[in-house]
Amino acid sequence: MAPNAATAHDCCANAPKSPTISSMPSSQPLPPTSQPLLNSQEDPRQRARQRLIVALDVPNAAAASVLVDRLDDTCAWFKVGLELFIAAGPAVLEPLLRRGHKVFLDLKLHDIPNTVAGAVRSAASLGVNMLTVHAAGGPAMLAAAREALAGSANAPELLAVTVLTSMDAAQVGAIGVPRSPAEQVDVLARMGLEAGIRGFVCSPQEVATLRMLTGPQGVLVIPGIRPAGGAIGDHKRIATPAEALHAGASYLVVGRPITQAAHPAEAAEAILEEMAKALGNP
Ligand code: C5P
Repeated sequence: MAPNAATAHDCCANAPKSPTISSMPSSQPLPPTSQPLLNSQEDPRQRARQRLIVALDVPNAAAASVLVDRLDDTCAWFKVGLELFIAAGPAVLEPLLRRGHKVFLDLKLHDIPNTVAGAVRSAASLGVNMLTVHAAGGPAMLAAAREALAGSANAPELLAVTVLTSMDAAQVGAIGVPRSPAEQVDVLARMGLEAGIRGFVCSPQEVATLRMLTGPQGVLVIPGIRPAGGAIGDHKRIATPAEALHAGASYLVVGRPITQAAHPAEAAEAILEEMAKALGNP
């Protein structure tokens, strides 16, 4: 499979180039990351593979299975979100884990602390590697989620979602937050750190600030990734894979640019190639 044979999906091929993708110089040094899930000894291609998470946003287990079959040899991580988990239940995780894939269970939990703690324990028992809660649930909820994992063997990395990448200033204002999305991300991340959380989901535009806040121990998982020229979809704050890595991302979450491509494995290969180049040129 030719790594450079990027195949854009029809809907992506004709999309106008995003005016919001910044042009971060590729000479900018990559920030250090020392997450235990990553192995810095491996070659850039292997490291890229360990840092790309494919979002399986599909309506049922059969559709997920088709995609995973096509991406099995290319991708190491898969994200199961609300659409698939609600339709297919925990059983959908089993074939992924059995094949040796890593699983990010993205349920974005947000409830009272006691309920979230119980849900976190239940999710951890499924054997997943990453799990999300909403930072907006507040410090008590975040602390309860963290404490629910304390002492459990192979606990998943707990991530607090800051501000969704689909939210711009107007959307953030509409829910009564008198700040820009970037300021709100900063507030939520500081609160999360105080509650003992070291993993965050944020947009590519806030990752550099968050990397400075968390230091190398922070696990920064970044959606809103679009290859240059790709369709933006419903995101407002996006970047290319290389830009996100140079800004300090630990992991990139990519859904539609891979899953809706005519040839998903080739689309994933092209993204991995770009990531490997960025990782190989710190
Ligand atoms: O298809 P696309 O690449 O836009 O998919 C992005 C994925 O990242 C979706 O599964 C979405 O739920 C997730 N996401 C997230 N946090 C955000 C924005 C998107 O986990 N702030």
